[in-house]
Amino acid sequence: MYSEKVMDHFTNPRNVGEIEDANGIGQVGNAKCGDIMKMYLKIEDNIIVDAKFKTFGCGAAVATSSMATELVKGKTVEEAMKITNKAVAEALDGLPPAKMHCSNLAEEAIAAALEDYRRNIGEASNETVDCTGCCNSCGHSHGREEDFDE
Ligand code: FES
Repeated sequence: MYSEKVMDHFTNPRNVGEIEDANGIGQVGNAKCGDIMKMYLKIEDNIIVDAKFKTFGCGAAVATSSMATELVKGKTVEEAMKITNKAVAEALDGLPPAKMHCSNLAEEAIAAALEDYRRNIGEASNETVDCTGCCNSCGHSHGREEDFDE
């Protein structure tokens, strides 16, 4: 049911924990199950130099969190903003259709952490974007409503 990569990242998740001096932190919740992901980013000169996570959730959520932190490291803020839940799932050689919604947390956590970073450096407005159309109850502000698979 799960790919070897999913099992690998579930049983041996990378980058678990907190970054004490993180300058971008995002926490999101999955409307379908109540699972929670918190993403910590350390960004220097517009490059993500470190990423860690804490996830209270299912195996797919842990695996996608782990892969998401691997994917964002070394990327620019702009590159990381383009990472979708599909890209995270594909990097894990796919997820079962019933578990695709778990990967939404990864995309949303990255977006929330980047938004927090941009707010910290004074680039983002404090305007809250209506999330209706994606998870519908994540409670954070973001402007990415497309590509949220069930
Ligand atoms: Fe909640 Fe997977 S069942 S994120």
